[in-house]
Amino acid sequence: MKIKLSFITLFSVITLLLAACGAAPVAASQPAVQQPAAPTQPAGQQPASGNIVEVKIAGFAFSPAELTVKVGTTVKWTNEDSAPHTVAGSGWGSDTLNKGQSFSYTFTSAGTFAYQCGVHPNMKATVTVTQ
Ligand code: CO
Repeated sequence: MKIKLSFITLFSVITLLLAACGAAPVAASQPAVQQPAAPTQPAGQQPASGNIVEVKIAGFAFSPAELTVKVGTTVKWTNEDSAPHTVAGSGWGSDTLNKGQSFSYTFTSAGTFAYQCGVHPNMKATVTVTQ
């Protein structure tokens, strides 16, 4: 009988503690107004400086062939073809890229930068760099 009473007493104390700790503080800690969702990037906005934008070389073409980025953006080309390709700009470019190999170049000034594949001059593309 004494043990049974102790259990009941213990149960009551725990119940009271849970009620005291649980009810009011949890309700109070809930913000009255839901936090707004993280803002999404406006359509058409270019990636921020320092970002890396990828161009794939596949099917004997650069994709995307026309790319616009902000100054400071690094463009990374990756050859997905079995055939070797290069990225050949005016005063900048890559060595031969075999399948799976990449070349990265950071555009530090605004302008339109045409390039082609040194192996297949019909493979042409541009990177337009904006402030
Ligand atoms: Co090529």
